[in-house]
Amino acid sequence: MIRVAVAPGVVHWPGYLDDESQAALAAELQAVVRQAPFFQPRMPKTGQPFSVRMTNCGPLGWVSDERGYRYQPLHPETGEPWPLMPAPLLAAWAELSGYPHPPEACLINRYEAGARMGLHQDRDEQDFAAPVLSLSLGDAALFRIGGATRGGRTVSLKLASGDALLFGGAARLAYHGVDRILPGSSRLLPQGGRLNLTLRRVTKPA
Ligand code: SIN
Ligand code: FE2
Repeated sequence: MIRVAVAPGVVHWPGYLDDESQAALAAELQAVVRQAPFFQPRMPKTGQPFSVRMTNCGPLGWVSDERGYRYQPLHPETGEPWPLMPAPLLAAWAELSGYPHPPEACLINRYEAGARMGLHQDRDEQDFAAPVLSLSLGDAALFRIGGATRGGRTVSLKLASGDALLFGGAARLAYHGVDRILPGSSRLLPQGGRLNLTLRRVTKPA
């Protein structure tokens, strides 16, 4: 397993999931999405739609709309609990996170060809002792990550299908985002596009 130390607290494992594991995970996610369809998140206050669509699995899910960013146990449109986190996600967390408690939320972002994600911090969690673990499937993305303040130096890396990225410790509150998707760079997803899964611990363990 190749492990690249990108910056203090940021680790990249290119090709963490092999082709077979990627296909198996993509199939499990299809079942997740049948139960919890993608929804269109909206910016707090303005209601401006995001360019990505989202869903979640695990006990909690991250949502955003006019009322703000938050975690909640129910899908905002169906009102149903989020589906269980597929076992390969729990296994990746156990192997890579270095954190002794399970993740509580897996946000699934779906990027079509023109979608992007502006620089932001992940800071809606109560426990910053836990890292954020990201897994990518489908088309590659140009991902950017900097420091804990806006406007500092950033580094850009390509996240391809099967890659894992961890940011924690000194990088837990690092600004990060997706500049663009490289359409047609993977054949994993029949519809094309990219799925990014971010696993997070939300609450402080008792
Ligand atoms: C995110 O920060 O929510 C997504 C990051 C990614 O798509 O790689
Ligand atoms: Fe994020």
